[in-house]
Amino acid sequence: MDYVILDGQILDRNKAKVDIEDRGYQFGDGIYEVIRVYNSTFFTADEHLTRLFQSAEKIGMTLPYTLEELKNLLASLVKRNNINDGTIYLQFSRGVAARQHHYPDKDVKPAFTAYTKEIERPKDKLKKGVHAKLVEDVRWLRCDIKSLNLLGNIMAKQEASEAGCFEAILHRGSTVTEGSSSNMFIVKDGIIKTHPATNLILNGITRRVIMDICKEQNITIKEEEFNIEELLAADEIFLASTTSEVMPIVKVIGESFETEEPGEITRKLQAGFEKKIALQCGE
Ligand SMILES: Cc1ncc(COP(=O)(O)O)c(C=O)c1O
Repeated sequence: MDYVILDGQILDRNKAKVDIEDRGYQFGDGIYEVIRVYNSTFFTADEHLTRLFQSAEKIGMTLPYTLEELKNLLASLVKRNNINDGTIYLQFSRGVAARQHHYPDKDVKPAFTAYTKEIERPKDKLKKGVHAKLVEDVRWLRCDIKSLNLLGNIMAKQEASEAGCFEAILHRGSTVTEGSSSNMFIVKDGIIKTHPATNLILNGITRRVIMDICKEQNITIKEEEFNIEELLAADEIFLASTTSEVMPIVKVIGESFETEEPGEITRKLQAGFEKKIALQCGE
């Protein structure tokens, strides 16, 4: 049987029903996280949950748990569902209230839901690399919040997917920001560049792990804007996210960037990432 969390209770998925006037359902008024589970153990859970609390604060929402309480509850669900390699998705909406745009009264509690999924690591793609497509970034100006509102992201992903690509590389004018569900990196002459953690991107947890690996391995990484021209002239491109890990991009379709295989720095970071997983989750 598959269990989920609804308002703090673990229950059978078939019995979990969400109210039609949940603000997450009506407005996308809420926040979420996706945490990776390797070998039945959370990877970077504290970092994800800290970002969740920061997202909540940014939208004026108070979560009715401490980080530790939340982590324990999520761990019970992972255990209950016997997840070995997979993810846990969790979201808090601003709660259930009669539909009106402004925030409801303070006594309306955020609605908390979570579920797990058993998924394998994308080993083949990590080895061979994936294709990507440039798509204009038309999202709002608070991309630093991990909000339930993902229309801009999903429309970009759809455009990339229809072109046979794994990811959309988003750009605002000539500046590359991030992927539709990942952060973007280029390598030129041994130096990595990624967009700074401003309001224009989500500061990914995988991005931060990569920065730690770079520090440990003396690889130069600059949090600096780069443009489409630099992207296409790069030696290597890769993306990073919780589910895609350190994913090489070997072709930007319709453009001049194409490599035979993933580059050397990308490979080094992938190896570093494996070690981080092994260290935390013992795989
Ligand atoms: C827009 C966006 N940027 C970046 C990321 C990567 O973040 P993380 O490494 O925390 O998964 C995600 C993940 O879903 C995302 O949706």
